[in-house]
Amino acid sequence: MVIQKNPFTPTFGSEPLFLAGREQLLEEILGGLENGPGDPNRTSILVGSRGSGKTVLLTKIADEAMQLGWITASVTAEPDMLNKVLEQVEYRGKEFLPPKAKRKLSELHVLDVGFSVQHSEERQPSWRLQMTRYLELLAENQVGLLITVDEIDAKQPEMVKLVADFQHFIREKREAAFVMAGLPGKTLQMFHDKSISFVRRSFQHKLDAVSKADVKTAIKKTIESSGRKITAEALDIAAQYTRGFPFLIQLVGYHTWRQSPKVKTITLADVEQGIESSEEYMDRMILDTTVSELSEGDMAFLFAMLPDEAVSRMSDISARLGKTTKHAAQYRLRLIKQGIIEEYGRGKVQFTLPLLREYLKKNYGEKTEL
Ligand SMILES: Nc1ncnc2c1ncn2[C@@H]1O[C@H](COP(=O)(O)OP(=O)(O)OP(=O)(O)O)[C@@H](O)[C@H]1O
Ligand SMILES: [Mg+2]
Repeated sequence: MVIQKNPFTPTFGSEPLFLAGREQLLEEILGGLENGPGDPNRTSILVGSRGSGKTVLLTKIADEAMQLGWITASVTAEPDMLNKVLEQVEYRGKEFLPPKAKRKLSELHVLDVGFSVQHSEERQPSWRLQMTRYLELLAENQVGLLITVDEIDAKQPEMVKLVADFQHFIREKREAAFVMAGLPGKTLQMFHDKSISFVRRSFQHKLDAVSKADVKTAIKKTIESSGRKITAEALDIAAQYTRGFPFLIQLVGYHTWRQSPKVKTITLADVEQGIESSEEYMDRMILDTTVSELSEGDMAFLFAMLPDEAVSRMSDISARLGKTTKHAAQYRLRLIKQGIIEEYGRGKVQFTLPLLREYLKKNYGEKTEL
C-alpha cells in the first residue's frame, strides 16, 4: 500500500479536513448574513478555551461568507489592525471600489505636483468615514462586508475603536457583519469596558465540547477519505478520549495514524499508542500555558477539586481549602471567567478543559494531597 500523507492537523489555526460539529453555529451566523441588517448574529463573538477551534471557525465563516458574495477582512487584535482592515477591503473589493476611492491616490497626486508640504497638513479622513464610503460603494453593488477579529483584547486601543465605530454601521443599517473570537477571560474584559458597552449585546456563541457522535463522524471521514479504515472499537475509544475537544481530535488522530501507516486498517492498539503519544503534546501545547496563567489561589482551588470524581461541591471545596465560602466563591468566579471550570448545577463545579484534572494530578501530585 502506498503510504498516504497524515490527514490530521494538530496545529493551531490549521483548518481540519472535516470540521466536527459546529454546523448549527455556522448556519446561525451565515443565516444572519443572509437575513439582513438588524439580525443579531451580524455581531457575534465566538467564545472558547485554547484549542476549542475559534480560529478555524472564523476562517470557515469568512470562507463561506465569500461564497455568498461578501467581502471579508480578517485580522487579529493588534496595533495597526484598523489599517489592515482597510487594506483588505481595498484589495478584496477592488472591482467595486472606483480608483478614486483608493486612499493612496490623493497622496500620489499631491506628490506629482510637488505639494508635499501641503499634503502633510491635509486632514486625513477618519477610519469610520473611510469605511463608510467603502460600505456605501459596496452596497451599491449589493455586496456586504464581514470583518473578523481573532484573539480579541480590550487592551488594544484599536480593538476598542473598531467596536465603537462598528456600532454606528449597525445603527445605520449597513450591509456589514462583525464576528470576533476570544478566550472567555478576554471576552469578559471586553464586556467590562465602558466605552464599548455595545459589545455586550452581541451574540455570544460558546464553543462547547463537540458531541461524541460528531467526533466519531469527523475522525472516520478524515481516515476514510485518505484511503484507510478504522475498526468500530478503535474509533469509539479514540472519540471517547477526546471528550469532544477539537485540538485533541486532531492530536489523537495524528498520532494514531502514524503508528502503522502501511497497514490499511487502524486498530485499537494503534489508538492506544496514539493516545499515549498525544499526552505529552497536549501537556505542552495546551495545559502548560493555561496553568502558567493561573494564580496561587486559583491553583489551590483546583487542587481542592481533585479528590472528587467529576463534579465538586462548593461546600467541600471551601472545607478542604480551610477558607470561608465567600473566599472560595471569589476563586470560583475567577476560574469560570477564565474558562477553566464551569458550573454544574447549583453549588457545584467541574473542570471545563479535558485532561486538566489528570495533568494537575500528574504534575503536582504531592501538593494536592489534602
Ligand atoms: N470543529 C473541529 N473539528 C475538528 N478539528 C478541529 C475543529 N476545530 C478546530 N480543530 C482543530 O483544533 C486545533 C485548534 O483549533 P484552533 O486553532 O482554531 O483553536 P483556537 O480556539 O483558535 O485556539 P487558541 O485559543 O489557542 O487560538 C487545530 O488543530 C484544528 O485543526
Ligand atoms: Mg486561535
